[in-house]
Amino acid sequence: MSLYGRKLSRRSDTICIGILGKVIEKLHTLAMSLFEKYGGISTIQSLVRDFYQDVLASPTLSPFFSNINMQALMGHQVDLFCFIMSGPCSFNLERLRTAHMGLKISEELFAEVATVLQSTLEDHQVEPDDVQQIMETVASTADLIVRR
Ligand code: HEM
Repeated sequence: MSLYGRKLSRRSDTICIGILGKVIEKLHTLAMSLFEKYGGISTIQSLVRDFYQDVLASPTLSPFFSNINMQALMGHQVDLFCFIMSGPCSFNLERLRTAHMGLKISEELFAEVATVLQSTLEDHQVEPDDVQQIMETVASTADLIVRR
């Protein structure tokens, strides 16, 4: 077989195809959404479940959720994360403003929730670059959530 005019042995062919396979695999990963990369809706559901388990374990955060329908809330949070991770979901970010209005959320509380979220992503083996990308998007929602 000739590649760019060079004769390649059968062994070189195998190596070339091996490398090409790896390159295609890498390109496919780059083109994939984070939603697809991490296993779709079931992964997000388990991530959100673990996230709220830790939020409710915090004495500063749990009082905010005492009268909240957690099943409904987790459903909305799944939609948000599916949207942030470029999955097949839509989420109007203005909803974040309405939902948190009147809760008097400080910068510190926002930071605590963000830290819990970051740990949850790390516990779910989300890669550091992807954690950073997700956390940057979450940080950009602070204006809608924090009362200044
Ligand atoms: C990392 C930042 C946060 C994100 C991404 C976030 C996300 C969300 C989402 C998606 C909802 C559902 C919105 C809807 O119903 O459409 C929600 C509701 C809620 N969030 Fe947050 N949140 C954040 C920070 C906080 C903080 C710091 C607190 C309080 C300590 C908080 C307390 C609540 C409560 C109590 C609700 C339910 C409101 C209700 O149903 O009446 N959130 N949040």
